[in-house]
Amino acid sequence: MKNKILVTGGAGYIGSHTCIALHEAGYDIVVYDNLSNSSPEAIKRVSTLIDQPIEFIEGDIRDAESLKQVFTAHHFFGVIHFAGLKAVGESVAKPLMYYNNNVSGTITLLEVMSEYDVKNLVFSSSATVYGDPENLPINEESPRSCTNPYGQSKLAVEHILEDLAKSDDRWNLIALRYFNPVGAHPSGQIGEDPNDIPNNLMPYISQVAVGKLKQLSIFGNDYPTVDGTGVRDFIHVTDLAQGHVAALNYLEQQTSPEKSCLDTASTKQTSSKSSSVGFLPINLGTGKGTSVLELISAFSDVSGQAIPYQFTARRAGDIASCYASANKAKSSLGWQAKLPITDMCQDTWRWQSMNPNGYNIS
Ligand code: NAD
Ligand code: UFG
Repeated sequence: MKNKILVTGGAGYIGSHTCIALHEAGYDIVVYDNLSNSSPEAIKRVSTLIDQPIEFIEGDIRDAESLKQVFTAHHFFGVIHFAGLKAVGESVAKPLMYYNNNVSGTITLLEVMSEYDVKNLVFSSSATVYGDPENLPINEESPRSCTNPYGQSKLAVEHILEDLAKSDDRWNLIALRYFNPVGAHPSGQIGEDPNDIPNNLMPYISQVAVGKLKQLSIFGNDYPTVDGTGVRDFIHVTDLAQGHVAALNYLEQQTSPEKSCLDTASTKQTSSKSSSVGFLPINLGTGKGTSVLELISAFSDVSGQAIPYQFTARRAGDIASCYASANKAKSSLGWQAKLPITDMCQDTWRWQSMNPNGYNIS
C-alpha cells in the first residue's frame, strides 16, 4: 500500500473521479466533505467502482476540531484539496460566503496540516486566475488578475501558499490550474451533477440533449475567434484525475530521502534536509482550444441528438479565448492529457442519459 492521502471535497465532481484514479494508483484515501454541493450517492458509487468501501468523513474544512480528529486518527503523506465553492455568479452575490469557505477554510486546513507536520498539498486552482489573458497559449508565468470573488478566492489562496512556501521550506505546495473540466467516468456511474440550471456549457448541452432543457443560449457570436463563439480548453475529468496522481508522485519523489541523497551527491553539498518543492503552479489543460459551436457539433454527432440553440448577448465577465500551455505539466510531472473532445462528449452523454436526474435517484 502506498501513502495515505486526505481528499477534501472528494465527494464532488473532480474529487470523485480523482478518488478512483488514486485508488488505482495504489494510494490509501480518506475523503472529507461537508456534502454542501455533493451527494453521498457519489461516494457509494465510487466504492462500488473500486470494489472497496471508502473511508468517508462528513465534515467542514472550517471546523478545526473536526479536522484535528481526522489528522489524529490517520498518518497522511499529504492532502489533495478540492473542497470549495465554485459558482462565479453566486460568488458575486455572496462574496463573504466565498471568501469564508474558500479562503478561511483553506487557512484552517493549512493550520491543522502544519500542527500535524503534514506539509504536502495539491490545491485546486483555476485558469480563472489568469483573467483575460494577454497571450495564448497561457503559461504559468502569465500575469494573474481576477474580476469576481470566486476567482479572487483562488488567487488569494495561491498568494497564501506562495507566502507559506517562502516562510518555511518544508512546505511542498502544488497549485493545479484547471482549464475547463468536462466528461465523466466511462462507466457512466459518476459525473457532474449541477444543482438547478447549469451555469457551464457542457452540462447545459447535455441537459438539452436529454430533453431536460429546451435550448441552449450561446453567449455571443461576435468574439474574435474561429467562428465568433468563445474558445476554451476542455479537458476530460479522468485526464485531470491522472494529473493529480502525477502531482502526488512528483511530491513523493521530490521529498523522498533517496532524492535528497542523490541531490546532495550530485551537487557535492552536505545537507541533511529533503529538497523542497516550495510553491509550484501547473496548468492542467490539453493545450487545444475548442469553440462553443465546435463542442455542440461534436456532442450532437456522438449522441445523435439535435442541440437547438440561439445566439444571445455576451455573458458579463466572459473572455474570448482561453487555452493552456501544457508544457510545464509534461516536463515537470510527466503528465499530458490524452482524451479528445469526442471522448469528453461520449462520456458526458453516457452519464447524462443513464442518470437524467444525476444522483437524485428517488
Ligand atoms: P464540486 O462542487 O463538485 O466539489 C467540491 C466539493 O467540495 C463538494 O463535494 C462540496 O460538498 C465540498 N465542499 C465545499 N465546501 C466545503 C467545506 N467548507 N468543507 C468541506 N467540503 C466542502 O466542484 P468540482 O467541480 O469538483 O471542483 C473541485 C475544485 O476544483 C473546487 O475547488 C473548484 O473551485 C475547483 N475548480 C473547478 C473547476 C470546474 O470547472 N469544475 C475549474 C477550476 C477549478
Ligand atoms: N456558454 C454559453 N452558454 C452557456 C454556458 C456557457 O454560450 O449556457 C459559453 C461561455 O460564454 C463560454 C463557454 O461557453 O464562452 C464556456 O463557458 P463555461 O461557463 O462552461 O466555462 P468558463 O470558461 O466561463 O468558466 C469555467 C468555470 C470557471 C473557471 C473557468 C476556468 O465556470 O469557474 O472555467 O477554469 F474558472
